[in-house]
Amino acid sequence: MCGIVGYIGWQAAAPLLLQGLKRLEYRGYDSAGLAILNGNRISVIKQKGSVSTLETDSVTFRAEMRDATLGIGHTRWATHGEPSDRNAHPFLNASGDIALIHNGIVENFSVLKTELLSEGYIFTSDTDSEVLVHLIDRIWKSNPSLDIESVTRNALRLVEGAYGLCIISTREPDRIVVARKGSPLVIGIGNREFFIASDTAPIIEHTNKVVYLSDGELAVIKRDGYSVKSIDNVAQDKTVTELDFTLEKIEKGGFEHFMLKEIFEQPEVMNNVMRGRVHPEKGLVRLGGIIDYLDRMKQSKRIVICACGTSWHAALIGKYLIEEFARIPVEVDYASEFRYRNPIVGIDDVVIVISQSGETADTLAALHVAKEKGALVMGICNVVGSTIARETLCGIYTHAGPEIGVASTKAFTAQVIMLYMFALALSKGRTISHDEMILHLTELSKIPEKASRTLLLNTYITDIAKLFKDARNVLYLGRGYNFPVALEGALKLKEISYIHAEGYPAAEMKHGPIALIDEDMPVIFIATQDNTYSKILSNIEEVRSRKGRVIAIANEGDKEINRLAEYVISIPHSSAPITPLLTVIPLQLLAYHIATLRGCNVDRPRNLAKSVTVE
Ligand code: G6P
Repeated sequence: MCGIVGYIGWQAAAPLLLQGLKRLEYRGYDSAGLAILNGNRISVIKQKGSVSTLETDSVTFRAEMRDATLGIGHTRWATHGEPSDRNAHPFLNASGDIALIHNGIVENFSVLKTELLSEGYIFTSDTDSEVLVHLIDRIWKSNPSLDIESVTRNALRLVEGAYGLCIISTREPDRIVVARKGSPLVIGIGNREFFIASDTAPIIEHTNKVVYLSDGELAVIKRDGYSVKSIDNVAQDKTVTELDFTLEKIEKGGFEHFMLKEIFEQPEVMNNVMRGRVHPEKGLVRLGGIIDYLDRMKQSKRIVICACGTSWHAALIGKYLIEEFARIPVEVDYASEFRYRNPIVGIDDVVIVISQSGETADTLAALHVAKEKGALVMGICNVVGSTIARETLCGIYTHAGPEIGVASTKAFTAQVIMLYMFALALSKGRTISHDEMILHLTELSKIPEKASRTLLLNTYITDIAKLFKDARNVLYLGRGYNFPVALEGALKLKEISYIHAEGYPAAEMKHGPIALIDEDMPVIFIATQDNTYSKILSNIEEVRSRKGRVIAIANEGDKEINRLAEYVISIPHSSAPITPLLTVIPLQLLAYHIATLRGCNVDRPRNLAKSVTVE
């Protein structure tokens, strides 16, 4: 978590850094700060709250620092120490000639802090990050002949935990030192200028040429070039990657919020995910990134999918799809559980890690565990060049484009389509016939158009949202393929509206949640016409007889459901395995409208972050 930016070049640094931080606020917005180096002075401005607050208050600061062309900036998601001015980054050493920003967690900070305190160092914050600047200061004082690069390297050898960090100093005023272990860092290469950021969002408007730092690497960036070395001081040969997305893709494009824009982008995203991969007329699905490993995967005894949050819900749908089509047993694990329970995984297994950001710390750790145990590890990621994408043996990108809204929407539907294609690819020549393949792929290729029709329900869903915006609890129920959708619907609502919501398998309601139902309790049923349809009608009756208020997501033309539910949201027909791609859309819209009606900041919900790079 936390977003970090840096700039060294010929333009005024402060406005560039502020602009960059705004693009990273999805990584945290508890506080923001800048350190600008001008000749022999480092000036810092930092405070609790968002980057806009900092921007407003930084006018005088910026005027003072007008000529400065080097600086670093940070937007924070609090781990150690509450969100406050004093815990905001950057941190300075006592003499004010070294400034540092950090993303990650220094796990041995308490030992280091105790040592530093005993040596007389004074801490001005409660953060783990501050130890780093004092550590560097201590090493430099005891070896004044060392350069900033060596001092940083020596300091990092003492640090346990994760870091993405930038350091500047008036002692060597023409460079930024950056280092990475567990927290992402990218260097953008401009014309006699360099941009540093936690991801490419702040860089793309300046240059499309980037270098991704790998774990254990440290770079020194000057105006005339950069060098990358390992923490052991071995020069690294880095590849320059050319990004192929535009700034327009990461702006709101006329929508009030990124989340709404991203919900409405889903038909286009669905087409993008399938482009060049799905060939219905030939009964062929081609997934280039895993093609060399597909036969081995078809032989596997078992597939384990690890993910977090919304990606975990997509994984659960993936289980249903793979088991139904490919008949290979699938287990779905929370990455955070998998990594710590010595899982039984070996060379006969495939482990799939799913992550929108490709940076989630638990998912990355699960990947490492699976690799160590010899499993074939495959990734499904959205962010191109992300750590998970680079560390898996093989993988497929979802190509959903940058997702900025903290609550995931289009990345979810892209993951589900990807899993659908993957399940079919695994089945080809084994468990489903060529004709069935054609049928499934034809059905899949129609989904973007059906998603567009589903989005036309937006106004009606806004009306429903007005009626239920003051609910205190909401229950989401679904069966089969729609059970994970119920979980996702509930997650969307709680993430952005702060209303308590639970997703449940509809039949399990009888074993607990039914006790909660009364006339104030909205219950959202996902009741499309699949093989559990008649059963779900009985579940609706059970809720109605306890006076619960029923909202149903059902298929167009369903008369029976009109009789039972107070409000019906009618979506196009599709086969059961494809249904989640449609049923989730009204639930995303409902959560969005309820949250905006309640005055919540949907793109930046409290306490959450888009990319969770801490455990
Ligand atoms: C955070 C985000 C969620 C996301 C989850 C997993 O909690 O707020 O939207 O689903 O992380 O992220 P990943 O990038 O690994 O899919």
